[in-house]
Amino acid sequence: MIINPEIERYMHGLLPPRDAVLAEMEAVAERRKIPIVGPAVARVLAQLVMITGAKRIFELGSAIGYSTIWLARAAGPGAEVHYTDGSAENAREARTYIERAGVASSIHVHVGDALTVLSQTPGQFDFVFNDVDKEGYPAVLEAVPSRLKRGGIFATDNTLWYERVLNPSEPSDRAVAEFNQKLYESTQFFTSLLPIRDGLSVAVRL
Ligand SMILES: C[S@@+](CC[C@H](N)C(=O)[O-])C[C@H]1O[C@@H](n2cnc3c(N)ncnc32)[C@H](O)[C@@H]1O
Repeated sequence: MIINPEIERYMHGLLPPRDAVLAEMEAVAERRKIPIVGPAVARVLAQLVMITGAKRIFELGSAIGYSTIWLARAAGPGAEVHYTDGSAENAREARTYIERAGVASSIHVHVGDALTVLSQTPGQFDFVFNDVDKEGYPAVLEAVPSRLKRGGIFATDNTLWYERVLNPSEPSDRAVAEFNQKLYESTQFFTSLLPIRDGLSVAVRL
């Protein structure tokens, strides 16, 4: 845990309760160790969508659809949110939650490699959320700029990678550290890394 555990508990204590579907998903994720963003980070993503008025959203790495539902609800009616996951079983489960959450009409569920799906989905996006396997982060950073409109948001979870960016030893550590360095250096983005939960990077496409 990156944040002082007491601060983490305090912040979580402030969060309003989630509805039945999200609360069930949080419980399932905790029980089955599914790495969802959780409500504190989900609220930041939702705020970014609300602030920017994003309607066309692409998510790389969606698991059971927890963050997808938050994004779709924040984007509201007329949104187009693309869910992607390599696991057909995750997608099947996500569909049931998405249906119950009342956002099925705005979410497109894709099974397959997220970057392949992105390359096959035409048009520009207002918002891209990256949460794939960490070794894939540098490739995501290569692909996203040309697919994001100017002023669009590129958000990425786990960019502190449970402190492993401090002393990268595994390939995933090095990939996240490289991603962070390149994202900050990029002239195509204006970036901040928010030290919330496991680190959330927010980059505006210039
Ligand atoms: C951290 S979880 C996503 C959690 C989700 N964003 C949430 O917060 O509710 C990562 C998911 O991405 C999927 N994944 C990882 N790498 C992927 C890739 N290259 N293409 C598609 N899915 C991928 C995994 O199967 C896993 O379910």
